[in-house]
Amino acid sequence: MSKYKALRDLAKSTAAHAHSPYSKAKVGAAIETEDGTLFGGCNVENSSFGGTTCAEQVAIFKAVSEGKKRLKRVYVYTDAGWSPCGICRQIMSEFASPEMEVIISNKDGDEKVTSLKELLPLAFTPEEYQKR
Ligand code: THU
Repeated sequence: MSKYKALRDLAKSTAAHAHSPYSKAKVGAAIETEDGTLFGGCNVENSSFGGTTCAEQVAIFKAVSEGKKRLKRVYVYTDAGWSPCGICRQIMSEFASPEMEVIISNKDGDEKVTSLKELLPLAFTPEEYQKR
């Protein structure tokens, strides 16, 4: 049984809601905010491909729009265990510390536990932006 069962269940069930008629990929993300609230997100594609939004971004924007701006953990689910894209990593870094846990999982239950700083070294962060 996964140590991250609640996050895994949410990411997996949310992946089923993916709107992905073009790639057919079903991506689910579940995030835990600092106060322990969970938010799920799926990828939402568009016939104008650049209008596509990733699952991680949907979950993060749901949290931020509910006033929860600090992320404790991000769990990403795809059948094949895809790693989060670069734009998602950058968006995570706006709302999380470099130490934040990111869990990348697949349909077999494999879970790669990593961190934002491992995924996005030398990040351009809000703190970096303040340096003038
Ligand atoms: N996708 C995500 O939802 N998250 C990622 O981090 C990588 C890619 C989605 C976007 C698109 O719907 C499909 O996967 C193929 O790129």
